[in-house]
Amino acid sequence: VYGLNIGEPDTAPPEVFYEGLRKAEHQPVPYEAAAGFPPLRDAWASWLNRSLKIDTRPDDFLVTTGASEALIFSFLTCCDAGDEILVLDPTYANFAGFAAMADVRLKPIELAFDDGFEFPPVAALASEAGPQTRAVLLCHPNNPTGAVPTAQQLQDILSFCESRNIMLIVDETYRELVFDGRQPLSILQIHPDHPGVIVIDSLSKQFSLCGARVGFVYSANQAILEAMDTLAQCRLAAPSLAQRASAHMLQHLPSGFSEKRAIEFEARRDALVQPLANHPNVDVHNPAGGFYAMVRLPVENAADFAAFLLTDYHVDGCTVQVAPAEGFFVAPGLGRDLVRVAFVCPPEELTAAAQILSSGLDAYQER
Ligand SMILES: Cc1ncc(COP(=O)(O)O)c(C=O)c1O
Repeated sequence: VYGLNIGEPDTAPPEVFYEGLRKAEHQPVPYEAAAGFPPLRDAWASWLNRSLKIDTRPDDFLVTTGASEALIFSFLTCCDAGDEILVLDPTYANFAGFAAMADVRLKPIELAFDDGFEFPPVAALASEAGPQTRAVLLCHPNNPTGAVPTAQQLQDILSFCESRNIMLIVDETYRELVFDGRQPLSILQIHPDHPGVIVIDSLSKQFSLCGARVGFVYSANQAILEAMDTLAQCRLAAPSLAQRASAHMLQHLPSGFSEKRAIEFEARRDALVQPLANHPNVDVHNPAGGFYAMVRLPVENAADFAAFLLTDYHVDGCTVQVAPAEGFFVAPGLGRDLVRVAFVCPPEELTAAAQILSSGLDAYQER
């Protein structure tokens, strides 16, 4: 089964990560400081400053147990129970789980497949924002759409947040994975030190370290950082061995690492998306970043088609697992004819998977 359903890259992390892990051998495995292993905060700030040409300070970051915990901390810090956060729709499915933990309501801003799920104009945010709205949450490159905003779009959304005195939370988990000559874009390049901005980050995707559980939350706002630090104290610490190995990795990362990875994933995107786009009944976007594409199928229930591929269809014993896209929509009933595919395996496997998906669709329609 070609697993195109989950965003977990098959590529190995940089070898220097394991070197860092070996350095920690035969030592105690301590609780790190709640805010994170200091050399990791230093190494992260320097890496980010070098790659984005910005000037953050290690004290502006907290190390978290993945971006997931950074998001939970952000929701708990910005909102009281019952408050609202505006989110792009479709969006990363687990935002709903984090919101449930914080007793926060996600309010969807509907994006259109036919516009390439382009980032919304400020008017769309303005019409949904209400007295309980405390933040706008963006993710770019967006999961599941692969859409990337322009710097002007980000600036406009930030100005809107300023005008409403609400926070802008930006999940930049996939920031470095951008294609077709694009450069990684961070809200921190547009507005460094903005007290109304929170940035979410992770080593999971960019460094193939999903299981290390290392993420970061950035804020230049002392009150926010202090509130998050209190939450961090309550859970003691993020994983210690992974933090030590990650610090070593970032200090010794081969130059050009991120650029090479972006090129590698661009080739994977092409290996999957181009053969799918050749099918006359399939609509698919060419994602600008990340490692997902949304695919529109001529079916009423994409979840049923996804199950059919697993239970009733194969080519020489091989089939494909895709993610039905309905689960990425906050608004009920949307995305029933869409699936999300992740280009997380080698190009030749992705092309084979695209062919199976296409012929499986024909077989499904002929039943
Ligand atoms: C947009 C987005 N944010 C956060 C996460 C979670 O990342 P982490 O593994 O760092 O918790 C994911 C994982 O798929 C994601 O797609």
